[in-house]
Amino acid sequence: MTQPEALIDRVRGWVEAAARVVVLTGAGISTESGIPDFRGPRGVWTRDPQAEKLSDIRYYMADAEIRKKAWQARLVHPAWEAQPNAGHAAIAALERRGKLHALITQNIDGLHQRAGNSPERVIEVHGTVLKVVCMSCGWKGPMQETLVRLLTGEEDPPCGLCGGILKSDTISFGQSLIPEVIDRAMRCAAEADCFIAVGSSLQVYPIAGAVAEAKAAGARVVIVNAEPTPFDDIADALLADSIGRTLPRIFQCPDS
Ligand code: APR
Repeated sequence: MTQPEALIDRVRGWVEAAARVVVLTGAGISTESGIPDFRGPRGVWTRDPQAEKLSDIRYYMADAEIRKKAWQARLVHPAWEAQPNAGHAAIAALERRGKLHALITQNIDGLHQRAGNSPERVIEVHGTVLKVVCMSCGWKGPMQETLVRLLTGEEDPPCGLCGGILKSDTISFGQSLIPEVIDRAMRCAAEADCFIAVGSSLQVYPIAGAVAEAKAAGARVVIVNAEPTPFDDIADALLADSIGRTLPRIFQCPDS
């Protein structure tokens, strides 16, 4: 469903008039790169509600079999093959135009940085699959090096320093978020004059609350999402067309 030109023009006008655009992205921006989302019609949790449970940190820490399955899944994670799409490119172009105040992402795939957004402007509130962390000593290293250990026969590779349990540097259910990361995201939301939520069902807190934070601070709020969200009633505009088509139109970068 292509959005009416008048609505696109109105949102484009808000973006042009804005000095501090904050974009919040969710898994929906990466589906057009081949990475499934969680709660959409073909989402990971939609197709297998059990999977959400298995991604809870308590199961991961308690059960070596869960960890072995998780490492096998990381070996074939769609992020390794995925390329940034037109939606990612449009946000990178917005930064190049000097209009992007912050990019808050719930995604762990690193596609925003690969599309050209500056790492220091990307706030990864759920971490990244590109790194590994030791749950005992806190050691961090590149995911690819640990994946090589799997390919040479290790099923549940322990930390090379202390023998502790290794995990992707992502925040799983049951794990606490990094307070300073969340504080920075909420602060940026409150500084926005235009806040655009892209490809998120806006059901996971505290970061879903950034939408209300931006609204309360006086920002224009735009939600770009194929399905309804709990914040639709406070949005100034709702755009339900594909993200890859919509973002280039509202960020005025048709070549992205
Ligand atoms: N165009 C527009 N909307 C899309 C597209 C698309 N191409 N693809 C998917 N969507 C929409 C879906 O309709 C859905 O509403 O994107 C939304 C994605 O929502 P979720 O799957 O819930 O993803 P997200 O909001 O990022 O989930 C938040 O939950 O499971 C945890 O840690 C995980 O970071 C994730 C968090």
